[in-house]
Amino acid sequence: MNNMYIRDLVEAIPRRYSVRQYTAKEIPNDLRNRLMVSEGIRRLDLTGCRVELAHAPGELDDVFSGIIGNYGKIKGPSALIALLVPEDSGELGLLEAGYVGEQYVLRATSLGLATCWVGGMFHFKTLMGRLSIGPAEKVAAIISVGWPISKTDPMGSLVHFFVKRKTLEQIVDKDLLQSAGWVRSAADAVRVAPSAIHRQPWFLSGTPARVVLKPSRQGGFTYMDLGIAMLHFELAAEHAGHIGKWHVGPELCFS
Ligand SMILES: Cc1cc2nc3c(=O)[nH]c(=O)nc-3n(C[C@H](O)[C@H](O)[C@H](O)COP(=O)(O)O)c2cc1C
Repeated sequence: MNNMYIRDLVEAIPRRYSVRQYTAKEIPNDLRNRLMVSEGIRRLDLTGCRVELAHAPGELDDVFSGIIGNYGKIKGPSALIALLVPEDSGELGLLEAGYVGEQYVLRATSLGLATCWVGGMFHFKTLMGRLSIGPAEKVAAIISVGWPISKTDPMGSLVHFFVKRKTLEQIVDKDLLQSAGWVRSAADAVRVAPSAIHRQPWFLSGTPARVVLKPSRQGGFTYMDLGIAMLHFELAAEHAGHIGKWHVGPELCFS
């Protein structure tokens, strides 16, 4: 992956925020192609993970069901990206979907588009009509994509009012945080990552030679949130001059 592409993605990290209301305008063909090109997409290679785009401005609202208070009710997106993983892929499928999907989120942000991850609040049958989902596949999550209606997102403001963004000290071991400049930059990229219900279930420890990422709490989307954090950490570390790779075993280690 070239340096300019990584810089674009890393610069998109602090600019990204979830948008749930869009103007249902077309995403031009060339922009769609740049968003969806498979070249440059990194994978953890834990399981298969397929992405599929449905582009139908103004016609996708019925896919998103929302829950109490309209969390998850997405209005007017031009497109959605579905992350499809093997039915039986469990936590590994969620990790892979988070890691792969977040690259599309950051790409979209760098192209001037807005996004929102949507975990479970969609009508599966309606979605089936828009995509070709194989019998052994499941939809890990979908990402809405489009043009934001305004610069703020009312539901996002509400979520952020009730659940504050954690500080670096809350998500990184003190010694690790002070160990190297690149660690601080990479951890800060994790800090601003999206997570389901803004849970931020991340804790980084270990040493700069072997950083360990652990879930600080468990929930249905924890492993997808971890996959997202892994991607942010890896890209920001690389941008800061430290190239490393995630190893998925009994622990999630970056070395
Ligand atoms: C895996 C995942 C699932 C999510 N599911 C939903 C959802 O169903 N509905 C919704 O409105 N937002 C959803 N979000 C968005 C989060 O609420 C949002 O990322 C979090 O509140 C932090 O806000 P920010 O993205 O603006 O930084 C999801 C995010 C992630 C990472």
